[in-house]
This record gives sequence, structure tokens and C-alpha cells, in this order.
Amino acid sequence: MKVIAAIRSVNTRVDRVIAPPKYDRREIFAFWMAAVDFDRALHLGCGRDKDGLGKRIETKGDVVALDPNPAGLAKNEVSQKVLGDAHRLPLSGDAFDFVFCRYVFEHLPDPHAALNEIDRVLRPGGTFMVLVPNPRHYYARIADATPFWFHKLWFEFQGIDDHEEDRFPTEYAWGRLEDIEGCSRWELEAVRSFPGPTNYTRVLPFHVLFSVLARLVEHRPKYHVAYLARFRAPR
Ligand SMILES: C[S@@+](CC[C@H](N)C(=O)[O-])C[C@H]1O[C@@H](n2cnc3c(N)ncnc32)[C@H](O)[C@@H]1O
Repeated sequence: MKVIAAIRSVNTRVDRVIAPPKYDRREIFAFWMAAVDFDRALHLGCGRDKDGLGKRIETKGDVVALDPNPAGLAKNEVSQKVLGDAHRLPLSGDAFDFVFCRYVFEHLPDPHAALNEIDRVLRPGGTFMVLVPNPRHYYARIADATPFWFHKLWFEFQGIDDHEEDRFPTEYAWGRLEDIEGCSRWELEAVRSFPGPTNYTRVLPFHVLFSVLARLVEHRPKYHVAYLARFRAPR
């Protein structure tokens, strides 16, 4: 464990020197959310909501938390919870003026069905916000090529303080920059991309290679690790 900690510490310094600046995606997501006005919001694929996003905005309006995993949902602290699947939302149409989801689309086998469902429940002029990893990034490609048990093992090996409910098999069927920019059903109001590298390689002695790679693609968003997008439904 000491060796891992030492490697990680060296690699953190390596990142500071070589890699592009690292932005806190969670904080930026929360910051964007805070700017959205709504009466009724849907937190899609909320899980246990480890950062309390739903709770934070409950003061502004109703928040419905939806997830197919009862264990995650049970730990979620918002008052309105729905057990459900993004592909077939058990919700009536035109019911929300804000739908948001973070690290969910990479788990969906049929993302277009989920987008149709979001479109159905979103009111005219409503906002949809999504944070999604890029399926084209090496991290997603490695995750795609390795079994789910390996992902769990990798998290454990790194000593990442994570919960069973946060882990879900991945599909990476949607989330490339062209998926986001080509999504014509809504107006794309804002998009932000994050260059990487990921923390997941920080325990590797050759992490420096990933830092160099991240620097090389710094100005090529197509190869960045994740995207945050905000869409507006037509009025
Ligand atoms: C990596 S966790 C992210 C949880 C939470 N959004 C967050 O950012 O902390 C992925 C979540 O997607 C949910 N999920 C997986 N398949 C789903 C589906 N078909 N419909 C809705 N949510 C789904 C999982 O149950 C899990 O809560």
C-alpha cells in the first residue's frame, strides 16, 4: 500500500507539470445546476447521490430522484423517489422543466430510447443537463474491453472509497462529442469538455505516458475524457 501511495504521490506531481489543468467536474456540474430555474426537476440515474445534488436544489423546487437500483435509491436523501429505468420512464409526459443526469448514459444499452423518454417528460423550454464520459477515450475503451469484475477489482486495488451502488456495467453507446453536437432534438446551449488524464491510471508507474497523451490532445476535445452539456427543449 505504501508503494501505491508513493507512486500516486509522484504521479500527482507529474500531472501538475505535464498534464493539462484538471477541473473538478462534479463542482462544475453543481455550479451549472445552480443556475437553472425550475419548478420540477428529474434526477435521472441518481443512485445514492453521493454529492447530494438533488438535496442541494430541493430548496428551489420539487426534485424527483429516479434509479433502477433500490439499494442506491434507498440511500438517496430527497423526498420524492421513483424506482425506474431511463429507457421506460414510469412518469407522465411534460412533467419536468429540468432533467439532469451524471455518469448514467455510459450505462445505457439503448441511449436513444432514453433520450426519447427525456424528450417526452421534458416540458417545452425545459433544460436537460448531462455529464458523460467519452466512449472514444482510452479509459472507456479499456473499460469496454475488460469484464465488470475487473473494474470492481481496479477500484478496490486503488483503495477508492466507493460503494457497490455506484458501480454498474458499462455500455458506452452514447457520449462522443458528435453525439452531443449532433443531438438535433434540442438546442445545445453549452458544452464543456475535460481533457484528462483520469485518476484511474495514477497508480501505474507509467502514468506519465497518459499525462503526455492528455497534453497532446488538450486542444482536441474529440479525445477528451468527458463532456458536460446543457440542452434546451423547443418552446
Ligand atoms: C456511476 S453511477 C452514478 C450515480 C449518480 N448519477 C452520481 O453521479 O453519483 C450510475 C448510475 O446509473 C444508474 N443506472 C444504470 N442503468 C440505468 C437505467 N437503465 N436507467 C436509469 N439509471 C440507470 C445506476 O443505478 C447508478 O445509480
